[in-house]
Amino acid sequence: MLLNGFSRRHFTKLAGWSAAFGTSTNFIELGRAESGAESTLPSPSSGPRFPGSFLWGTATSAYQIEGAVDEDGRGPSIWDRYARARGTIADGSNADVADDHYHLYKEDVQLMKALGAKAYRFSIAWPRVFPEGSGAPNPKGLDFYNRLLDELQANGIEPFATMYHWDLPQALQDRLGGWMSRDTSEAFADYAGYVARRLSDRVRHMFTINECSRLVHLGYGLGFDAPGLRVSQAELNQIRHHVALGHGLAVQAIRAHGRAGTKVGPAENLVVCIPAIANAANIRAAETATRELNAGYLTVILEGKYRETFLAQAGKDAPEYTAEDLSTISSPIDFLGLNVYKPDHYVVATDDERGFALAPFPASFPHMDASWLRVGPEAMYWAPRHAAKLWDVKSIYITENGTSATDEVAADGNVYDVDRIMYLRNCLTQLQRSTSDGVPVSGYFHWSLMDNFEWSDGLQKRFGLYRVDFKTRRRTPKLSASFYRETIRQNAVA
Ligand code: FCB
Repeated sequence: MLLNGFSRRHFTKLAGWSAAFGTSTNFIELGRAESGAESTLPSPSSGPRFPGSFLWGTATSAYQIEGAVDEDGRGPSIWDRYARARGTIADGSNADVADDHYHLYKEDVQLMKALGAKAYRFSIAWPRVFPEGSGAPNPKGLDFYNRLLDELQANGIEPFATMYHWDLPQALQDRLGGWMSRDTSEAFADYAGYVARRLSDRVRHMFTINECSRLVHLGYGLGFDAPGLRVSQAELNQIRHHVALGHGLAVQAIRAHGRAGTKVGPAENLVVCIPAIANAANIRAAETATRELNAGYLTVILEGKYRETFLAQAGKDAPEYTAEDLSTISSPIDFLGLNVYKPDHYVVATDDERGFALAPFPASFPHMDASWLRVGPEAMYWAPRHAAKLWDVKSIYITENGTSATDEVAADGNVYDVDRIMYLRNCLTQLQRSTSDGVPVSGYFHWSLMDNFEWSDGLQKRFGLYRVDFKTRRRTPKLSASFYRETIRQNAVA
Protein backbone atom coordinates (compact mmCIF):
# COMPACT_ATOMS: atom_id res chain seq x y z
CA MET A 1 0.00 0.00 0.00
CA LEU A 2 1.20 3.51 -0.70
CA LEU A 3 1.02 6.19 1.93
CA ASN A 4 1.63 9.54 0.33
CA GLY A 5 4.10 7.93 -2.00
CA PHE A 6 6.00 6.05 0.69
CA SER A 7 5.95 2.32 0.77
CA ARG A 8 4.50 0.94 3.90
CA ARG A 9 7.74 -0.96 4.34
CA HIS A 10 9.37 2.35 5.16
CA PHE A 11 7.56 2.14 8.44
CA THR A 12 8.44 -0.37 11.06
CA LYS A 13 6.13 -0.92 13.88
CA LEU A 14 7.93 -1.31 17.13
CA ALA A 15 5.90 -3.11 19.67
CA GLY A 16 5.19 -0.83 22.55
CA TRP A 17 3.25 -2.27 25.37
CA SER A 18 -0.30 -3.15 26.06
CA ALA A 19 -1.85 -1.10 28.78
CA ALA A 20 -4.47 -2.25 31.17
CA PHE A 21 -7.93 -2.55 29.68
CA GLY A 22 -6.46 -4.15 26.58
CA THR A 23 -5.71 -0.86 24.87
CA SER A 24 -3.07 -1.13 22.24
CA THR A 25 -0.47 1.59 22.47
CA ASN A 26 1.92 0.40 19.81
CA PHE A 27 4.00 3.27 18.57
CA ILE A 28 4.81 3.82 14.96
CA GLU A 29 8.38 4.63 14.10
CA LEU A 30 9.96 5.69 10.87
CA GLY A 31 12.21 2.91 9.62
CA ARG A 32 15.29 2.92 7.40
CA ALA A 33 15.08 3.69 3.71
CA GLU A 34 15.24 0.42 1.79
CA SER A 35 17.96 1.42 -0.59
CA GLY A 36 19.63 4.50 -1.98
CA ALA A 37 22.99 5.90 -2.89
CA GLU A 38 25.53 6.53 -0.15
CA SER A 39 25.19 10.11 0.95
CA THR A 40 28.19 12.34 1.45
CA LEU A 41 26.21 14.60 3.77
CA PRO A 42 26.65 14.19 7.50
CA SER A 43 23.68 12.69 9.28
CA PRO A 44 21.04 15.29 10.08
CA SER A 45 21.29 16.99 13.43
CA SER A 46 18.77 15.68 15.87
CA GLY A 47 15.83 17.77 17.06
CA PRO A 48 16.09 20.97 19.06
CA ARG A 49 17.99 20.75 22.36
CA PHE A 50 16.43 22.28 25.44
CA PRO A 51 17.90 23.04 28.86
CA GLY A 52 18.39 19.92 30.97
CA SER A 53 15.74 20.94 33.51
CA PHE A 54 13.10 21.57 30.84
CA LEU A 55 9.80 19.92 31.71
CA TRP A 56 7.83 18.05 29.05
CA GLY A 57 4.15 17.42 29.50
CA THR A 58 0.71 17.18 27.99
CA ALA A 59 -2.45 19.13 28.79
CA THR A 60 -6.19 18.50 29.08
CA SER A 61 -9.16 20.07 30.84
CA ALA A 62 -11.89 18.54 33.00
CA TYR A 63 -14.99 19.16 30.93
CA GLN A 64 -13.26 18.17 27.71
CA ILE A 65 -12.22 14.70 28.87
CA GLU A 66 -13.85 13.55 32.10
CA GLY A 67 -17.45 12.68 31.21
CA ALA A 68 -19.32 11.29 34.25
CA VAL A 69 -21.20 14.55 34.52
CA ASP A 70 -23.83 13.17 36.87
CA GLU A 71 -21.59 10.99 38.98
CA ASP A 72 -20.59 11.17 42.62
CA GLY A 73 -22.53 14.33 43.33
CA ARG A 74 -21.10 16.57 40.61
CA GLY A 75 -23.33 19.58 40.02
CA PRO A 76 -24.18 20.84 36.54
CA SER A 77 -21.85 23.32 34.86
CA ILE A 78 -22.63 26.05 32.37
CA TRP A 79 -21.06 23.87 29.69
CA ASP A 80 -23.47 20.98 30.38
CA ARG A 81 -26.35 23.37 29.91
CA TYR A 82 -24.87 25.11 26.90
CA ALA A 83 -23.83 21.94 25.05
CA ARG A 84 -27.25 20.37 25.51
CA ALA A 85 -29.03 23.35 24.00
CA ARG A 86 -29.94 22.94 20.38
CA GLY A 87 -27.58 24.29 17.74
CA THR A 88 -24.69 25.27 19.99
CA ILE A 89 -22.24 22.50 19.13
CA ALA A 90 -21.17 21.96 15.52
CA ASP A 91 -21.74 18.21 15.46
CA GLY A 92 -24.55 18.13 18.01
CA SER A 93 -22.37 16.29 20.52
CA ASN A 94 -21.81 17.09 24.18
CA ALA A 95 -19.29 16.01 26.80
CA ASP A 96 -21.56 13.84 28.92
CA VAL A 97 -19.12 10.98 28.32
CA ALA A 98 -16.30 12.60 26.30
CA ASP A 99 -13.16 10.48 26.86
CA ASP A 100 -14.65 8.86 29.95
CA HIS A 101 -11.44 9.83 31.66
CA TYR A 102 -13.26 9.79 35.00
CA HIS A 103 -13.22 6.01 34.72
CA LEU A 104 -10.21 5.52 32.45
CA TYR A 105 -7.75 7.83 34.20
CA LYS A 106 -5.36 5.03 35.07
CA GLU A 107 -5.07 4.08 31.45
CA ASP A 108 -4.57 7.73 30.54
CA VAL A 109 -1.71 8.08 33.01
CA GLN A 110 -0.08 5.15 31.23
CA LEU A 111 -0.47 7.01 27.93
CA MET A 112 1.50 9.92 29.42
CA LYS A 113 4.10 7.58 30.79
CA ALA A 114 4.53 5.90 27.42
CA LEU A 115 5.47 9.28 25.96
CA GLY A 116 8.12 9.76 28.62
CA ALA A 117 6.30 12.94 29.72
CA LYS A 118 7.16 14.02 33.23
CA ALA A 119 4.39 16.57 33.76
CA TYR A 120 0.65 16.78 33.25
CA ARG A 121 -1.59 19.84 33.18
CA PHE A 122 -5.22 19.10 33.92
CA SER A 123 -8.07 21.08 35.39
CA ILE A 124 -10.25 20.55 38.40
CA ALA A 125 -14.00 20.69 37.84
CA TRP A 126 -15.36 23.30 40.23
CA PRO A 127 -18.86 21.72 40.12
CA ARG A 128 -17.45 18.39 41.30
CA VAL A 129 -15.94 20.03 44.35
CA PHE A 130 -18.74 22.54 45.06
CA PRO A 131 -21.85 21.34 43.21
CA GLU A 132 -23.62 24.60 44.09
CA GLY A 133 -20.56 26.72 43.37
CA SER A 134 -20.15 27.63 47.04
CA GLY A 135 -21.38 26.35 50.38
CA ALA A 136 -21.04 22.66 51.15
CA PRO A 137 -18.16 20.86 49.45
CA ASN A 138 -18.64 17.42 47.92
CA PRO A 139 -15.86 15.16 49.21
CA LYS A 140 -16.61 12.49 46.63
CA GLY A 141 -15.89 14.98 43.86
CA LEU A 142 -12.53 15.87 45.30
CA ASP A 143 -11.74 12.19 45.75
CA PHE A 144 -11.50 11.74 42.03
CA TYR A 145 -8.57 14.15 41.99
CA ASN A 146 -7.03 12.37 44.95
CA ARG A 147 -7.11 9.15 42.96
CA LEU A 148 -5.69 10.85 39.89
CA LEU A 149 -2.91 12.51 41.87
CA ASP A 150 -1.94 9.25 43.53
CA GLU A 151 -1.78 7.59 40.15
CA LEU A 152 0.36 10.38 38.70
CA GLN A 153 2.67 10.24 41.67
CA ALA A 154 3.04 6.48 41.40
CA ASN A 155 4.11 6.96 37.79
CA GLY A 156 6.55 9.82 38.37
CA ILE A 157 4.44 12.50 36.66
CA GLU A 158 4.30 15.99 38.16
CA PRO A 159 0.77 17.45 38.34
CA PHE A 160 0.02 21.03 37.28
CA ALA A 161 -3.59 21.79 38.18
CA THR A 162 -5.75 24.53 36.64
CA MET A 163 -8.48 25.72 38.97
CA TYR A 164 -10.82 27.02 36.28
CA HIS A 165 -11.06 25.84 32.70
CA TRP A 166 -14.49 27.34 31.98
CA ASP A 167 -16.83 24.84 33.68
CA LEU A 168 -18.54 27.28 36.02
CA PRO A 169 -21.13 25.70 38.32
CA GLN A 170 -24.52 26.40 36.72
CA ALA A 171 -25.82 27.39 40.15
CA LEU A 172 -23.56 30.47 40.11
CA GLN A 173 -24.77 31.42 36.67
CA ASP A 174 -28.35 31.12 37.86
CA ARG A 175 -27.84 32.86 41.19
CA LEU A 176 -25.36 35.57 40.27
CA GLY A 177 -25.18 35.80 36.49
CA GLY A 178 -21.79 34.09 36.63
CA TRP A 179 -18.83 36.44 36.17
CA MET A 180 -21.20 39.40 35.89
CA SER A 181 -21.02 39.47 39.67
CA ARG A 182 -17.94 39.98 41.77
CA ASP A 183 -19.43 37.45 44.18
CA THR A 184 -18.39 34.85 41.60
CA SER A 185 -14.79 36.11 41.88
CA GLU A 186 -15.05 35.64 45.66
CA ALA A 187 -16.63 32.20 45.31
CA PHE A 188 -13.84 31.22 42.93
CA ALA A 189 -11.21 32.20 45.46
CA ASP A 190 -12.96 30.23 48.20
CA TYR A 191 -13.05 27.16 45.99
CA ALA A 192 -9.39 27.59 44.92
CA GLY A 193 -8.32 27.99 48.56
CA TYR A 194 -10.24 24.87 49.53
CA VAL A 195 -8.59 22.86 46.75
CA ALA A 196 -5.16 24.22 47.67
CA ARG A 197 -5.67 23.19 51.29
CA ARG A 198 -6.61 19.67 50.28
CA LEU A 199 -4.36 18.95 47.31
CA SER A 200 -1.20 21.02 47.67
CA ASP A 201 0.58 18.16 49.40
CA ARG A 202 0.92 16.70 45.90
CA VAL A 203 0.12 19.60 43.57
CA ARG A 204 2.99 22.05 43.83
CA HIS A 205 2.01 24.14 40.79
CA MET A 206 -1.43 25.65 40.31
CA PHE A 207 -2.88 27.75 37.53
CA THR A 208 -5.76 30.04 38.41
CA ILE A 209 -7.86 30.66 35.28
CA ASN A 210 -7.38 29.28 31.81
CA GLU A 211 -7.61 31.98 29.13
CA CYS A 212 -9.47 34.82 30.84
CA SER A 213 -9.73 36.55 27.49
CA ARG A 214 -11.52 33.72 25.72
CA LEU A 215 -13.99 33.00 28.47
CA VAL A 216 -14.95 36.68 28.54
CA HIS A 217 -14.95 37.35 24.83
CA LEU A 218 -16.53 34.13 23.57
CA GLY A 219 -18.68 33.36 26.59
CA TYR A 220 -20.20 36.77 27.18
CA GLY A 221 -19.28 38.85 24.12
CA LEU A 222 -19.89 36.69 21.08
CA GLY A 223 -21.91 33.96 22.76
CA PHE A 224 -19.99 31.12 21.07
CA ASP A 225 -18.94 29.55 24.37
CA ALA A 226 -20.97 28.93 27.54
CA PRO A 227 -22.92 30.68 28.92
CA GLY A 228 -23.60 31.86 25.38
CA LEU A 229 -24.46 35.48 26.20
CA ARG A 230 -24.00 38.72 24.31
CA VAL A 231 -23.92 41.43 26.89
CA SER A 232 -23.37 45.15 26.43
CA GLN A 233 -19.88 46.61 26.16
CA ALA A 234 -20.10 48.09 29.66
CA GLU A 235 -21.12 44.72 31.12
CA LEU A 236 -18.39 42.98 29.18
CA ASN A 237 -15.78 45.32 30.61
CA GLN A 238 -17.11 44.71 34.10
CA ILE A 239 -17.03 40.93 33.56
CA ARG A 240 -13.45 41.19 32.35
CA HIS A 241 -12.55 43.02 35.53
CA HIS A 242 -14.28 40.39 37.68
CA VAL A 243 -12.40 37.61 35.95
CA ALA A 244 -9.06 39.37 36.46
CA LEU A 245 -10.07 39.99 40.07
CA GLY A 246 -11.00 36.30 40.43
CA HIS A 247 -7.49 35.44 39.30
CA GLY A 248 -5.92 37.74 41.88
CA LEU A 249 -8.15 36.60 44.73
CA ALA A 250 -7.37 32.98 43.85
CA VAL A 251 -3.62 33.68 43.89
CA GLN A 252 -4.04 35.02 47.42
CA ALA A 253 -6.29 32.15 48.52
CA ILE A 254 -3.90 29.52 47.16
CA ARG A 255 -1.01 31.24 48.96
CA ALA A 256 -3.02 31.45 52.17
CA HIS A 257 -4.28 27.87 52.18
CA GLY A 258 -1.72 25.88 50.20
CA ARG A 259 1.38 24.36 51.73
CA ALA A 260 4.40 26.64 51.91
CA GLY A 261 6.09 26.83 48.54
CA THR A 262 2.97 26.12 46.45
CA LYS A 263 3.52 27.94 43.19
CA VAL A 264 0.77 29.77 41.36
CA GLY A 265 0.19 31.73 38.16
CA PRO A 266 -2.30 32.33 35.34
CA ALA A 267 -2.54 30.43 32.03
CA GLU A 268 -3.36 33.04 29.43
CA ASN A 269 -3.60 33.07 25.66
CA LEU A 270 -1.95 36.41 25.21
CA VAL A 271 -2.46 38.27 21.96
CA VAL A 272 0.74 37.36 20.13
CA CYS A 273 2.36 40.26 18.29
CA ILE A 274 5.20 39.46 15.91
CA PRO A 275 7.50 42.00 14.30
CA ALA A 276 6.68 41.70 10.60
CA ILE A 277 10.38 42.18 9.88
CA ALA A 278 12.57 41.76 12.92
CA ASN A 279 14.50 45.02 13.09
CA ALA A 280 14.91 47.06 16.26
CA ALA A 281 12.03 49.46 15.52
CA ASN A 282 9.53 46.72 14.69
CA ILE A 283 10.55 44.65 17.70
CA ARG A 284 9.89 47.66 19.93
CA ALA A 285 6.57 48.22 18.16
CA ALA A 286 5.60 44.57 18.68
CA GLU A 287 6.38 44.93 22.40
CA THR A 288 4.24 48.04 22.65
CA ALA A 289 1.43 46.27 20.81
CA THR A 290 1.72 43.31 23.20
CA ARG A 291 1.25 45.61 26.19
CA GLU A 292 -1.65 47.46 24.63
CA LEU A 293 -3.54 44.52 23.21
CA ASN A 294 -3.30 42.51 26.42
CA ALA A 295 -4.31 45.45 28.61
CA GLY A 296 -7.35 43.83 30.21
CA TYR A 297 -5.52 40.66 31.26
CA LEU A 298 -1.78 40.14 31.38
CA THR A 299 -0.90 43.83 31.44
CA VAL A 300 -3.10 44.59 34.44
CA ILE A 301 -2.10 41.33 36.15
CA LEU A 302 1.60 42.10 35.74
CA GLU A 303 1.57 45.90 36.02
CA GLY A 304 -1.27 46.48 38.50
CA LYS A 305 -2.81 49.23 36.38
CA TYR A 306 -5.23 49.60 33.54
CA ARG A 307 -3.47 51.42 30.77
CA GLU A 308 -4.68 54.94 30.01
CA THR A 309 -5.28 53.93 26.42
CA PHE A 310 -7.41 51.00 27.56
CA LEU A 311 -9.55 53.19 29.81
CA ALA A 312 -9.82 55.93 27.20
CA GLN A 313 -10.99 53.42 24.63
CA ALA A 314 -13.62 52.06 27.01
CA GLY A 315 -14.78 55.60 27.77
CA LYS A 316 -18.09 55.63 29.65
CA ASP A 317 -18.13 51.81 29.51
CA ALA A 318 -14.95 51.47 31.57
CA PRO A 319 -15.23 48.99 34.46
CA GLU A 320 -15.80 50.07 38.03
CA TYR A 321 -12.91 49.14 40.28
CA THR A 322 -10.98 50.21 43.32
CA ALA A 323 -7.27 50.68 43.92
CA GLU A 324 -7.46 47.64 46.17
CA ASP A 325 -8.83 45.57 43.29
CA LEU A 326 -5.80 46.48 41.23
CA SER A 327 -3.38 45.42 43.90
CA THR A 328 -5.29 42.15 44.31
CA ILE A 329 -5.23 41.50 40.57
CA SER A 330 -1.50 42.10 40.48
CA SER A 331 -0.66 39.87 43.46
CA PRO A 332 2.82 38.48 42.76
CA ILE A 333 2.83 35.25 40.76
CA ASP A 334 5.46 32.54 40.63
CA PHE A 335 5.25 31.82 36.93
CA LEU A 336 3.36 32.76 33.84
CA GLY A 337 1.51 30.16 31.78
CA LEU A 338 1.12 30.99 28.11
CA ASN A 339 -1.14 29.19 25.66
CA VAL A 340 0.45 29.77 22.28
CA TYR A 341 -1.08 28.47 19.07
CA LYS A 342 -0.71 31.10 16.39
CA PRO A 343 0.36 34.62 15.50
CA ASP A 344 -2.39 37.16 16.22
CA HIS A 345 -0.75 40.14 14.53
CA TYR A 346 2.27 41.04 12.47
CA VAL A 347 3.39 44.45 13.60
CA VAL A 348 5.25 47.32 11.99
CA ALA A 349 6.59 50.47 13.65
CA THR A 350 4.91 53.81 12.94
CA ASP A 351 5.85 57.40 13.72
CA ASP A 352 2.56 58.29 15.39
CA GLU A 353 1.87 58.39 19.10
CA ARG A 354 0.67 54.79 19.17
CA GLY A 355 3.94 53.61 17.69
CA PHE A 356 2.68 50.50 15.90
CA ALA A 357 0.37 49.31 13.15
CA LEU A 358 -1.06 45.86 12.56
CA ALA A 359 -0.51 44.42 9.10
CA PRO A 360 -3.70 42.94 7.65
CA PHE A 361 -3.65 39.20 7.01
CA PRO A 362 -3.83 38.34 3.33
CA ALA A 363 -6.53 35.84 2.37
CA SER A 364 -3.77 33.47 1.30
CA PHE A 365 -2.23 33.29 4.80
CA PRO A 366 -1.88 29.57 5.59
CA HIS A 367 -3.71 27.82 8.37
CA MET A 368 -3.89 24.36 9.84
CA ASP A 369 -7.04 22.23 9.86
CA ALA A 370 -8.90 24.74 12.03
CA SER A 371 -9.27 28.02 10.16
CA TRP A 372 -8.38 30.11 13.25
CA LEU A 373 -5.10 28.25 13.62
CA ARG A 374 -2.78 30.29 11.43
CA VAL A 375 0.61 28.80 10.70
CA GLY A 376 3.26 31.01 12.26
CA PRO A 377 5.63 29.06 14.47
CA GLU A 378 7.56 32.23 15.31
CA ALA A 379 4.68 33.00 17.70
CA MET A 380 6.41 30.48 19.93
CA TYR A 381 9.56 32.56 19.91
CA TRP A 382 8.06 36.01 20.38
CA ALA A 383 5.29 35.28 22.89
CA PRO A 384 7.54 34.19 25.77
CA ARG A 385 10.24 36.66 24.77
CA HIS A 386 7.89 39.64 24.90
CA ALA A 387 6.50 38.52 28.27
CA ALA A 388 9.96 38.09 29.77
CA LYS A 389 11.16 41.42 28.41
CA LEU A 390 8.09 43.54 29.17
CA TRP A 391 7.26 42.20 32.58
CA ASP A 392 10.51 40.71 33.77
CA VAL A 393 8.83 37.33 34.21
CA LYS A 394 11.30 34.83 35.65
CA SER A 395 9.56 31.58 34.80
CA ILE A 396 7.26 30.78 31.90
CA TYR A 397 5.46 27.57 31.03
CA ILE A 398 3.94 27.02 27.62
CA THR A 399 0.68 25.70 29.01
CA GLU A 400 -0.85 24.82 25.64
CA ASN A 401 0.26 24.44 22.03
CA GLY A 402 -0.96 22.05 19.38
CA THR A 403 -3.18 21.71 16.37
CA SER A 404 -6.22 19.85 15.21
CA ALA A 405 -5.78 17.66 12.14
CA THR A 406 -8.06 15.53 10.04
CA ASP A 407 -6.29 12.42 11.35
CA GLU A 408 -7.63 9.89 8.86
CA VAL A 409 -7.07 6.32 9.95
CA ALA A 410 -4.97 4.60 7.27
CA ALA A 411 -5.76 1.11 6.03
CA ASP A 412 -3.20 -0.30 8.45
CA GLY A 413 -5.00 1.33 11.38
CA ASN A 414 -2.41 4.04 11.97
CA VAL A 415 -2.85 7.80 11.92
CA TYR A 416 0.01 9.39 9.95
CA ASP A 417 -0.53 12.94 11.17
CA VAL A 418 2.55 14.39 9.55
CA ASP A 419 0.83 17.80 9.45
CA ARG A 420 0.69 17.85 13.25
CA ILE A 421 4.33 16.76 13.35
CA MET A 422 5.26 19.57 10.97
CA TYR A 423 3.44 22.07 13.17
CA LEU A 424 4.95 20.71 16.35
CA ARG A 425 8.49 20.49 15.01
CA ASN A 426 8.32 24.10 13.82
CA CYS A 427 6.91 25.35 17.11
CA LEU A 428 9.49 23.48 19.16
CA THR A 429 12.31 24.77 16.98
CA GLN A 430 11.14 28.32 17.71
CA LEU A 431 10.72 27.55 21.39
CA GLN A 432 14.25 26.22 21.53
CA ARG A 433 15.42 29.40 19.83
CA SER A 434 13.83 31.32 22.63
CA THR A 435 15.36 29.23 25.44
CA SER A 436 18.76 29.45 23.80
CA ASP A 437 18.36 33.25 23.72
CA GLY A 438 17.91 33.07 27.49
CA VAL A 439 14.12 33.42 27.69
CA PRO A 440 13.20 31.62 30.93
CA VAL A 441 10.79 28.99 29.61
CA SER A 442 10.69 26.13 32.11
CA GLY A 443 8.41 23.67 30.35
CA TYR A 444 5.98 22.81 27.57
CA PHE A 445 2.57 21.13 27.73
CA HIS A 446 1.26 19.78 24.47
CA TRP A 447 -2.44 20.30 23.80
CA SER A 448 -3.61 17.67 23.95
CA LEU A 449 -2.81 14.28 25.38
CA MET A 450 -5.76 12.82 23.49
CA ASP A 451 -8.65 13.85 21.26
CA ASN A 452 -11.44 15.35 23.31
CA PHE A 453 -14.53 17.55 23.29
CA GLU A 454 -13.38 20.69 21.53
CA TRP A 455 -16.03 23.08 22.89
CA SER A 456 -18.41 24.34 20.23
CA ASP A 457 -16.55 22.32 17.58
CA GLY A 458 -17.67 19.20 19.43
CA LEU A 459 -15.86 15.93 18.86
CA GLN A 460 -14.92 16.63 15.29
CA LYS A 461 -11.80 18.73 15.86
CA ARG A 462 -9.09 16.38 17.03
CA PHE A 463 -6.10 17.80 18.91
CA GLY A 464 -4.70 14.67 20.53
CA LEU A 465 -1.39 12.84 20.31
CA TYR A 466 -3.61 9.80 20.88
CA ARG A 467 -6.61 9.20 18.74
CA VAL A 468 -9.82 8.47 20.63
CA ASP A 469 -12.57 6.44 19.05
CA PHE A 470 -15.59 8.11 20.59
CA LYS A 471 -17.69 4.97 20.21
CA THR A 472 -15.38 2.55 21.98
CA ARG A 473 -13.24 5.13 23.89
CA ARG A 474 -10.22 3.24 22.62
CA ARG A 475 -7.03 5.31 22.54
CA THR A 476 -4.43 4.76 19.82
CA PRO A 477 -1.15 6.66 19.43
CA LYS A 478 -0.80 8.75 16.30
CA LEU A 479 2.53 9.18 14.56
CA SER A 480 2.86 12.51 16.40
CA ALA A 481 2.93 10.59 19.70
CA SER A 482 6.09 8.88 18.46
CA PHE A 483 7.48 12.23 17.40
CA TYR A 484 6.81 13.76 20.80
CA ARG A 485 8.22 10.74 22.60
CA GLU A 486 11.37 10.94 20.49
CA THR A 487 11.71 14.68 21.20
CA ILE A 488 11.46 14.02 24.92
CA ARG A 489 13.92 11.15 24.67
CA GLN A 490 16.49 13.20 22.75
CA ASN A 491 16.24 15.97 25.30
CA ALA A 492 16.50 13.72 28.33
CA VAL A 493 19.57 14.41 30.40
CA ALA A 494 21.90 11.48 29.99
C1 FCB B 1 -7.64 26.60 23.94
C2 FCB B 1 -8.37 25.98 25.11
C3 FCB B 1 -8.32 24.47 25.14
C4 FCB B 1 -8.49 23.89 23.76
C5 FCB B 1 -7.55 24.54 22.78
C6 FCB B 1 -7.61 23.96 21.38
O1 FCB B 1 -8.14 27.88 23.71
O2 FCB B 1 -7.81 26.45 26.31
O3 FCB B 1 -9.29 24.01 26.04
O4 FCB B 1 -9.80 24.02 23.36
O5 FCB B 1 -7.80 25.92 22.72
